[in-house]
Amino acid sequence: MILAIETSCDDTCAAVVDDDGTIRSNVISSQGIHDAYGGVVPELAARAHVERCDLVIEQALRDAGAALEDVDRIAVTQGPGLVGALLVGLQAAKALALARDVPLVPVDHLDGHVLAATLRPLAVEPPFVALVASGGHTFLSRVDGPDAIVRLGGTLDDAAGEAIDKGARLLGLPYPGGPALERLAAGGDPAAFAFPTGAKVRGLDCSFSGLKTALLYAVRDLGEEETARRRADLAASYQRAVVEALAVRVERALERTGLRRVAIGGGVAANGALRARLEALDADVAIPDRSLCTDNAAMIAAVARFRPALDPDAAIALEAYASGQR
Ligand code: KG4
Ligand code: ZN
Repeated sequence: MILAIETSCDDTCAAVVDDDGTIRSNVISSQGIHDAYGGVVPELAARAHVERCDLVIEQALRDAGAALEDVDRIAVTQGPGLVGALLVGLQAAKALALARDVPLVPVDHLDGHVLAATLRPLAVEPPFVALVASGGHTFLSRVDGPDAIVRLGGTLDDAAGEAIDKGARLLGLPYPGGPALERLAAGGDPAAFAFPTGAKVRGLDCSFSGLKTALLYAVRDLGEEETARRRADLAASYQRAVVEALAVRVERALERTGLRRVAIGGGVAANGALRARLEALDADVAIPDRSLCTDNAAMIAAVARFRPALDPDAAIALEAYASGQR
């Protein structure tokens, strides 16, 4: 049994997962304290993790009907993320592992998003193409095995979630913009405005900076009153552009690799329009439950199943990293 801890951004997460990928518990405590600032405030995030981390771990064990004695391995997100936030989870994991003499497994957050769909009940088997679209990252990988993850392409500028959050902000929606933009878009016409989908970017890379600017100009040209009247159309068209940009890259990745299986992850993968668009592809598309798309600790356990544990000295010395991969 693996106990996993994830504190890379503003969600305090802990989960208990069996070695075969069965999720016994998956606790996500969203801090909800950053909304007023229009983005995550690193120092506040770290402090909130300190306040909640123990409670979230206890809750994950309780939900799983397990005790600490039952845990065989402790997995923790090492990076990338906010270092102050990561350190809280890392300290908690180190303390538990060393006090209880349980092996510690460091995990890369992005590998977590890539392998989230390998958890049951989806239990997607490699090889597959993974699309990860979150607030900080947007990329496509080819997954030939849990240890053979190769980057195929990614955003040249903003992440898809970042583009969504910025667009939502321009439309006067609260942070984080994704869920609010999706709700507003539901009542609008996705064909009302022709926003750019980064079509000029060839291959498997993508770009979202032009999209944001296009919305800014559209809002300016419409004026306050007309923008207010057409907010739903703007949201739906904006969302469609993001979805198309991602879906076209997935189609290209399938063509290029010859694979027929796709798995998606990252917060933007919670978006209903993206899910519907990808489901309609002529491929085997694995779409995890929304709670496995946004940040969570079950996905960290999913990776830990396939990663070696550290010896105690290396566990004590383990450091967080802000960006890049291990
Ligand atoms: O993976 P995630 O929870 O955190 C990061 O590692 O970044 O992704 C957060 C991002 C935010 O930009 C948020 O607006 C977006 O995912 N998001 C959504 C939806 N839910 C969350 N975007 C579109 N539609 C949603 N329903
Ligand atoms: Zn994430």
